Amino acid sequence: MVSLTLPKSSRVVEGKQFGKKGKNTITFNVYRWNRESNENPRLDRFHINKSKLGPMVLDALMFIKNQMDPSLTFRRSCREGICGSCSMNVNGTNTLACLKPIEGEEINIYPLPHMRVLKDLIPDMSDFYKQYESIQPWLKNNKSPKKENLQTPEDRKKLDGLYECVLCACCSTSCPSYWWNGDKFLGPAILLQAYRFIVDSRDENKKERLEELKDKFKLYRCHTIMNCTKTCPKNLNPAKAISEIKKLQVSS
Ligand code: SF4
Ligand code: SF4
Ligand code: FES
Repeated sequence: MVSLTLPKSSRVVEGKQFGKKGKNTITFNVYRWNRESNENPRLDRFHINKSKLGPMVLDALMFIKNQMDPSLTFRRSCREGICGSCSMNVNGTNTLACLKPIEGEEINIYPLPHMRVLKDLIPDMSDFYKQYESIQPWLKNNKSPKKENLQTPEDRKKLDGLYECVLCACCSTSCPSYWWNGDKFLGPAILLQAYRFIVDSRDENKKERLEELKDKFKLYRCHTIMNCTKTCPKNLNPAKAISEIKKLQVSS
């Protein structure tokens, strides 16, 4: 369990400069904070010659870490939009750094909003994962585990647009309802996952799953603001999944 340490002040102060700004440079303004130091968060500026950069924001962060400041901390693994670990806020939009092209002369990089920060660009995901666990994200049925659990192509198709979710939390952390009620509202990412199991023809727990979500906070804090769908870097539609759950609750 991570203890909650907050910055002395949430005001982000001017940090260090790395490299020199020039005609062919791009400036990366990167949020830095270490909960162990208890100093104010700061914005470090890294000026990098364009010719040294790969195409994506994650390439720039790797360059900074390898060549300029090894203490910069962020998560990443697959570097191709599959693991969901490099989620952060780039120029005001939550996204995956490995899928976000470097554009413009200046790029602002912050951790996902409204999450406790552990260090620099790393948010504490433990509450998010607990919410994921709460929807029991596995197939529940009484079929023998020794037999293949078949699905028709039509039923399999119902999972398209759902199974691709990489649990990056870009959607949930862009949702105003989740900002204010993140302890009780499950948020778009987890609700999309819940729907993924509700519509899976191999699962026999649909009724109980719907019953479990019948709650004014867990599901009904969604006010269809649609930020979640707008921000999803995998082009999924969590707002639609949420409205499908609501429809099933009325009809079942
Ligand atoms: S729905 Fe999209 S934004 Fe939300 S967790 Fe899944 S992949 Fe990330
Ligand atoms: S549609 Fe619902 S879940 Fe998505 S951002 Fe809006 S309130 Fe949040
Ligand atoms: S590094 Fe895996 S999604 Fe970006």
